[in-house]
Amino acid sequence: MSLKALSIAMLATSAAFTISQAQAAGSLNVICSADVVICEQLKGDFEKKHDIKVNMVRLSSGESYAKIRAESRNPKTDIWWGGTGDPHLQAASEDLTQEYKSAKLGDLHEWAQKQAASSGHKTVGIYAGALGWGYNADIFKAKGYKEPLCWADLLNAELKGEIQVANPNSSGTAYTTLASLVQIMGEDEAFEYLKKLNANISQYTKSGSAPVKAAARGETGLGIVFMHDAIAQAASGFPVQAVAPCEGTGYEIGSMSIVKGSKNLDNAKVWYDWALTPEVQSRMKDAKSFQLPSNVSAEIPPEAPKFENIKLIDYDFATYGDPKTRKSLLERWDREVGSIAN
Ligand code: F6P
Repeated sequence: MSLKALSIAMLATSAAFTISQAQAAGSLNVICSADVVICEQLKGDFEKKHDIKVNMVRLSSGESYAKIRAESRNPKTDIWWGGTGDPHLQAASEDLTQEYKSAKLGDLHEWAQKQAASSGHKTVGIYAGALGWGYNADIFKAKGYKEPLCWADLLNAELKGEIQVANPNSSGTAYTTLASLVQIMGEDEAFEYLKKLNANISQYTKSGSAPVKAAARGETGLGIVFMHDAIAQAASGFPVQAVAPCEGTGYEIGSMSIVKGSKNLDNAKVWYDWALTPEVQSRMKDAKSFQLPSNVSAEIPPEAPKFENIKLIDYDFATYGDPKTRKSLLERWDREVGSIAN
């Protein structure tokens, strides 16, 4: 082969290499821990705007944490979008996620920036949601049940078999419930409460919002969920009434993290910056995701629960997102509540 032919062949090989590299760089593996409708909307919008193919799985918050932990030697996920903040904080302290300071950080509400700062910028707040429940007003009326306005009301014997809540091992909603009750009542009292509540629980679901979807369909009377998930059912035309508990309640800072060792790190940063923009966050309501967005310029959906009207506790994210606390509360839940579950 002449020198010219050789150099043409080499050029062709290196062009092919560049093309295949570009193709490899054109994808992003996302775990989405919010409702499947918003997950699909984000994937579609992102793919339309960027030449990056999104491979997405929808998993509950606790399951997502467990997957990222299990894959830590050979990460398959690049970015974890959504889900409650506690498991994101746990992943950050276990060094499963990686530091990234987005240029968009300064555009966020203080609570979202604080979430980032407290994790050494290994996670960031993308939305906030208040915990409560949704009940099927038709069922409550037909059966003559008392209106459930307080945590204490959920223990009424007439509600036997009428309540669903998720399992806190898989679900961030249910872990937020557990941690909120511990902060409102004290740990021993909260477990006493949960053991009594168990008498009224028909099912501990895997996903956090499943209980209120079941209440909407009339399969159960009440689901303990984030209030925005109850409002989403009402907005879809179901007879669901959202409640902010009278004794006070906890809340989530829904979060986003880049997985340490991400194989598509540049693309993960593109997603991260994009997901913090007001345009993306303002569109969440189109998927009936009525959380409070973290970007100060994002539109607040009129349906979003009014935080100023809710008795919110000063949720201690540092403590309840700490691996030791989360592990010990979940173990105690398995021992004392999971073991007596129907
Ligand atoms: O359905 C949306 C949502 O409530 C988010 O606000 C929250 O972060 C997530 O679901 C929690 O889901 P899970 O309880 O299944 O982890």
